[in-house]
Amino acid sequence: MAKAAVVYACAECGYSAGRWFGKCPGCGSFGTLAEEAPAATAKAAARPLLRLVDVEVDESERIATGVPELDRVLGGGLVPASLVLVGGEPGVGKSTLLLTALRAMSEERRTLLVTGEESVAQVKLRAARLGGAGKVEILAETELETVCATLEKERPAVCVIDSVQTLYSGELGSAPGSVAQVREAAGRLLRVAKEAGVATILVGHVTKDGSVAGPRVLEHLVDCVLQFEGDRYHEHRILRAVKNRFGSTNELGVFEMTGTGLQGVPNPSELFGRTQTGDPGAAVACALEGTRPILLEIQALVSPTDLAMPRRVGTGVDPKRLAMIVAVLSRHAGVALGSADVFVNVAGGVRIDEPGADLPVALAIASAAKGSAVRDSLAAFAELGLTGRLRPATQGERRLEECGKLGLEQIVVAAGSNLRGKLRKTEAETLRQAIRHALVEDRGQT
Ligand SMILES: Nc1ncnc2c1ncn2[C@@H]1O[C@H](COP(=O)(O)OP(=O)(O)OP(=O)(O)O)[C@@H](O)[C@H]1O
Ligand SMILES: [Mg+2]
Repeated sequence: MAKAAVVYACAECGYSAGRWFGKCPGCGSFGTLAEEAPAATAKAAARPLLRLVDVEVDESERIATGVPELDRVLGGGLVPASLVLVGGEPGVGKSTLLLTALRAMSEERRTLLVTGEESVAQVKLRAARLGGAGKVEILAETELETVCATLEKERPAVCVIDSVQTLYSGELGSAPGSVAQVREAAGRLLRVAKEAGVATILVGHVTKDGSVAGPRVLEHLVDCVLQFEGDRYHEHRILRAVKNRFGSTNELGVFEMTGTGLQGVPNPSELFGRTQTGDPGAAVACALEGTRPILLEIQALVSPTDLAMPRRVGTGVDPKRLAMIVAVLSRHAGVALGSADVFVNVAGGVRIDEPGADLPVALAIASAAKGSAVRDSLAAFAELGLTGRLRPATQGERRLEECGKLGLEQIVVAAGSNLRGKLRKTEAETLRQAIRHALVEDRGQT
């Protein structure tokens, strides 16, 4: 019988080889290769198959988190026994959000907070600031085996691990926060979550420093990845689903950070969709984020430059899309931008990835370049093609409805959108026509 091949695997990066190396050829770490047990060759017994229709499921009911904006992003609440990863930069408010949700959920079911970053006293202080601790149970622990054993014994309905980077398994040689540790922690917690029926929320840090494993390595493991974004210098925070096995992605929750915690903003359009009328360089977009239309003010500044390569800087818009829009404006709409810097900013620190916002971005830039304001109470949505033609944006009627709610009167859309509704709609075939319709006074620069 052939001898089972011996495999050496690196504990850091998972590289495997047929012989031992002092230095791992995969990641360059020293002394991390160890012999792995050869795969068991014993014959496994076959198992009977099931028909999918015969599988019995107890209709798993979602757990309302008590934070409506969080429920919306999760797709209607937390799914029991699921694993959710909440990522975000330091200080954005992850612990605050999850403590608020835990407290609300603790009224109905057992909830546990595993804190590895803060002491029990620090969490207590935060809870006091947020208005009480409810019946939340707490465990200050960083050893993975202890956390898993406790979860299996206590079986709370919901558990928050703050943060996954602090968990440490003695079985692995690597430091806490390394890729191997984080992956191991998530893998084991996943098993416990499914077996013990604990809905587990992992907090993960995203750092610019590569030494700490970002939560990216976990994305394929977990059921749902939420990204908490925002600027520490602004009070608004955006929660968005990047991946969701139980709901739509790109769903958006908007919060305001106050001294007493995070307050949900149920109607963000009110907040972000207003322009100071009469100023050139501002346009209102109606973007669709997940299932929710949202009005956003887009501001642009066009300023002459002597730089050989003029700058195109976008905050909240994708740089590639911005470059494309600037090129289409120059080539097809007669807005010369070759010797000008272009800056674009989306109100409230919101990021838009959606093609329906192409037209309003182009309108804001054209308005800034021509020094002519966009008409009062006008919003726009359409996708921009490379030929300068406009394409209808998806779900136009829902967007129109949102514009109506906010009292906008005139909407510029792509020709062929076929929208019903009371608002005055102007259909434009090309970007050039849309600019002519939208600006107060198109000074006709061609
Ligand atoms: N007294 C206060 N008044 C207003 N805002 C506060 C107050 N205390 C804290 N904050 C806000 O809460 C934020 C920190 O929240 P939190 O600790 O939940 O963040 P975090 O994402 O968990 O951070 P970390 O990554 O460090 O764990 C601060 O950036 C600040 O905006
Ligand atoms: Mg925290």
